[in-house]
Amino acid sequence: MKIVSVVGARPQFVKLAPIHKAAQAAGVQHVIVHTGQHYDPMLSDVFFDDLGIGAPDVHLGVGSGSHGVQTGAMLAALDAVFDEHRPDWVLVYGDTNSTVAAALSAVKMHIPVAHLEAGLRSFNRRMPEEHNRVMTDHAADLLLAPTEVAVDHLAAEGLAARTVLVGDVMTDVLFEVRDEIADAPSPLMQELGVEPGGFYVATIHRAENTDDPARLAEVAAGLAALDKPVVLLAHPRVVAKASAHGIALTQGSLIAHSPLAYADLIAAALSSAGVVTDSGGLQKEAFLLRVPCTTVRTETEWVETVDLGWNVLANTAEEIAAAVTRPRPADTQAAPYGDGHAAERVIRALQNPAGDTSS
Ligand code: UD1
Repeated sequence: MKIVSVVGARPQFVKLAPIHKAAQAAGVQHVIVHTGQHYDPMLSDVFFDDLGIGAPDVHLGVGSGSHGVQTGAMLAALDAVFDEHRPDWVLVYGDTNSTVAAALSAVKMHIPVAHLEAGLRSFNRRMPEEHNRVMTDHAADLLLAPTEVAVDHLAAEGLAARTVLVGDVMTDVLFEVRDEIADAPSPLMQELGVEPGGFYVATIHRAENTDDPARLAEVAAGLAALDKPVVLLAHPRVVAKASAHGIALTQGSLIAHSPLAYADLIAAALSSAGVVTDSGGLQKEAFLLRVPCTTVRTETEWVETVDLGWNVLANTAEEIAAAVTRPRPADTQAAPYGDGHAAERVIRALQNPAGDTSS
């Protein structure tokens, strides 16, 4: 069997790592296509190197652009790649422009498409990722859902017959890396000379928080006013927008820092007093590490983290301050994101789409 995985943005490289490992273990031919959506080394190469993926087989070099230009350039380039490889499956990941481009190209070439992380919904139609998810789910032939909630969303949209619950592959890689770094101090903590529990880790990159200067200034001021140092692991989007609008990303408690490699991020989160983020993946990683999370958004796709008390949605400076200083949530044994073996189930589902993947 031959699978072509199409990835392009940082969270997709994390999801790709356990899939690549499971494909190799099962003797499946796995071709990796990098669209080039993320091209900065700290957003891209460091994940391929550190997570044992190796180099992509094909690199489209698409780069940045408006949604239409970026997605269109991917579409134009992918037809030839799929035609050359003619895989049994095209596997697409998550909710980025790379996801929807690959799904659309493959489905029109009558190549079966599987969507990993299917069924997530924010129900916020202002988010580009929400359109990417919905369109990809409705185009795909096989929907690999990470949670029961995602399965229910797909059923509500009439897609139950194409859905398989596999669990969350980010959990697979997180558990592995958490165990590897268990005894090592966080390099970020050492670099900044801060104590365990003496700082917060923050990431802000979503268009809703970065593109409007007034909104970005409000978020930066909210973080700057917190009671401990806030290390902002600044994505190039937030750096570019802040610089264009004259907004300081180092002010008050706020310290701008470059993005971290995956293991360093996990170590930093583990040592921190809490995470403040608008990232999808980091909310879930914080929960899995049992680190309190504050999410700077009006809604989340990972509702389990909120229901279990480990994540609070906050938007104004006051809401953010109240959320980060809340008492530690009650411990829980709940495992809504699976057992750390989701990638093996994904490969089994692709090998046997009508069969039972639970074993
Ligand atoms: C993308 C995804 C988002 C995901 C995020 C993770 C879409 C619509 N959004 O957002 O869902 O959570 O990746 O990081 O696909 N840039 C660089 N260097 C890079 C990449 C981007 O400088 O390597 C800058 C460019 O100025 C670019 C901007 O960041 O215009 C936005 O990049 P883009 O890939 O369009 O979206 P992200 O904001 O990264």
